[in-house]
Amino acid sequence: MSLSEAKKKVGGLAGVIAGSSAICTCGLGNGLNYYGYSIQDLAKMAEFEEVAYLLQFGELPKENELKEYKEKICANRNLSENLKAVLRAIPKNVHPMNLMQSAVAALGALEAEKEDFSDQDEKIIRLLGILPSVLCYWHHYSNFGKEIDFNSDEKTIAGYFLEKLQLSKPKEDFIKAMHCSLILYAEHEFNASTFTARVCASTRSDIFSAVAAAIGALRGPLHGGANEAAMHLIESFSSVEEAIKGVNKKLENKELLMGFGHRVYGVGGDPRNELIKEWSKKLGGDTLLYKVSEAIENLMKEKRPSLPPNADFYSASAYHFMGIKTDYFTPIFIMSRVSGWCAHIKEQRANNKIIRPSSEYTGPEPRNFVNIKER
Ligand code: SDX
Repeated sequence: MSLSEAKKKVGGLAGVIAGSSAICTCGLGNGLNYYGYSIQDLAKMAEFEEVAYLLQFGELPKENELKEYKEKICANRNLSENLKAVLRAIPKNVHPMNLMQSAVAALGALEAEKEDFSDQDEKIIRLLGILPSVLCYWHHYSNFGKEIDFNSDEKTIAGYFLEKLQLSKPKEDFIKAMHCSLILYAEHEFNASTFTARVCASTRSDIFSAVAAAIGALRGPLHGGANEAAMHLIESFSSVEEAIKGVNKKLENKELLMGFGHRVYGVGGDPRNELIKEWSKKLGGDTLLYKVSEAIENLMKEKRPSLPPNADFYSASAYHFMGIKTDYFTPIFIMSRVSGWCAHIKEQRANNKIIRPSSEYTGPEPRNFVNIKER
């Protein structure tokens, strides 16, 4: 078998069941569910903190449990002086995904998890609380030399992040849209970054190493980075007509349209798309950006129905309408998916076996060593 045939055969483990998990179902024809709750119900009726609790503990919280959980997350927003020193050393032209990964790796050094993982739940809450502070502290320091504080009356991650990023009270609609986006991005079965986290956790590594590894996987434009790439695609057109022409050309040239296609969702589409599209329309439905987005979506529906819009396509315009700069889109994905990654890290630890698949050998037959003088 040739190398290219072998590569085609393995094809990114497409269709391979690489383990079992009780956390999420997606692409099996029964939609997207977190521990049995549909994404539609969660996105419309829950706060992100309820979903983060569900992913961390396997059940939706009661009122008092949610109150206590939110208080614990709020109490974990502060950055230590050492961590601030690390963030101040990272210049503003660094890609924010590398900033976020550096901060999580630094947390593994400065606030290490216990060797027996007995404090894993505290570390998960620490990550949920601190990640918005990391991005906002670095944003204001690296751009304006200003050190922000972490006090806020906002009791949720959605509101706190928007407030600290823009240093102003966020609109209620923006907070609601952010809750929806954080819920949609929270968990998605064995996607590339989650599987990365599980592989790392399976060696009995610490939670910060596993999350830092997952951030590395999410950074790529074929995965989490697609929301930023989709924004660049959409804003590159100055009219609906230009967008239709441009996308047709890209399709002819076999270029990837960012924000479209998915490994597990076929023609039925990504159930998250409609939910975030609703918010994009509510926040900016009368703008050219939204109209160009819809034109691209309709063109793809007609020309490439097997490539439906995924969660990233309308997340781009929704975030833009909330005043968030494009290269902060994927870091928001981290703030949400950290709950899914940690759910899988806990699950892997609870019934662990090191993840080590085999490869199909396509290299040369055994041969004798040739001394360098005879080569
Ligand atoms: C996320 O896995 C998850 O669950 C991820 C995620 C999550 O919540 O964790 O849902 C988040 O990562 C969503 C996906 C974001 N990425 C993008 O939007 C980037 C653009 N999409 C493509 O790169 C692609 O669709 C993938 C990576 C999403 C899926 O790739 P697959 O399943 O490996 O499909 P493929 O690359 O084998 O494509 C099959 C064919 C190819 O053409 P041929 O070589 O067979 O001729 O479809 C084409 C591809 O070229 N194709 C596209 C396309 N996606 C696939 N052509 C144009 N535009 C696209 N977006």
